Amino acid sequence: MATIRDVAERAGVSVTSVSHVVNKSRIVTPELREKVLSAMKELNYRPNLMARSLRRKHSFTLGLILPDITNPYFAEIARHIEDASFEHGYSLIICNSDQDFSLESRYAQVLADKQVDGTILVSAGVNPSNSVAPILSMPFIMLDRELPQLPTDSIQSDNFQGGFLAASHLLSLNHRDFVCIVGPKNIHPSYNRLEGFRKALAEEGLHLDESALLQGDFSSESGYRQGKALLERNQLPTAIFAFNDLMAFGAITALAEHGISVPEEVSVIGYDDINQSSYFSPRLTTVAQPHHEMGKMAVEKLLERIADKDLPGRTFHFSPRLVLRNSTDLPRSR
Ligand code: RIB
Repeated sequence: MATIRDVAERAGVSVTSVSHVVNKSRIVTPELREKVLSAMKELNYRPNLMARSLRRKHSFTLGLILPDITNPYFAEIARHIEDASFEHGYSLIICNSDQDFSLESRYAQVLADKQVDGTILVSAGVNPSNSVAPILSMPFIMLDRELPQLPTDSIQSDNFQGGFLAASHLLSLNHRDFVCIVGPKNIHPSYNRLEGFRKALAEEGLHLDESALLQGDFSSESGYRQGKALLERNQLPTAIFAFNDLMAFGAITALAEHGISVPEEVSVIGYDDINQSSYFSPRLTTVAQPHHEMGKMAVEKLLERIADKDLPGRTFHFSPRLVLRNSTDLPRSR
């Protein structure tokens, strides 16, 4: 039986566009409508009538709360979640908490008031205020950042393994003098990356001193700021591990402004593998997170929980992947 994706491919449009035509959820051009209707006819496509019959009880809308919509990592994840939602006949309300707990709480209440069928939460971090209390009353799952003790599913990549991969790569290039530009302390992915990085060093009998940890906040500005701070030191490290690509971009820019070339003088590795990392100069070596698979699974597990609210909490880990580009190399002999 033809699916919504088959119709999209036949019509040469996105799944989202087919959903808008089928559900009349957005005005589309006559040309696009005609293309979709023709494809539906050619494929004898029939919308999921069972889903429609449930419509009386469901809003067929999902909520997504992200901590920073300006970070391409989250924008890319949101796109995959939107596609997966539309594939299942759901609309999506995207909320940006701006890493602010009170805003996160306000959005949680907005989504509850709008009676979304369920919510995907990428939290602003572990916080005492329990800012997400309003969504506890509805089906929800946690993505990328888990909050301890919440009775639901958590989907994330294995950040400990990712930190271990980054260190192993730098060690394989004979680096021994590192700094890490870390993310906020109350965000598990940052903490776990550091633990993985330290584990790889320990297996080589090496130790990461506290002075090698530079505090960032996952923004390019914080990476830039820490890159400038490094230039004040008597000696630069031979390698920098930035806990996300945006901070790596910032640090590389600060070094370049001071005539320090990457990777000739300092190697830099990032984390996330956002789209821009392939086009930065130098192209960024990084640890890729599987945005597409994580976003797709988040929707699937949320829909399972909407169908069965008594499901026990489960944790799903995806494996990160080292992506070798041009920002890391052997250390220059000093
Ligand atoms: O770039 C933002 C970071 O915060 C990502 O590494 C992601 O894992 C999130 O936790």
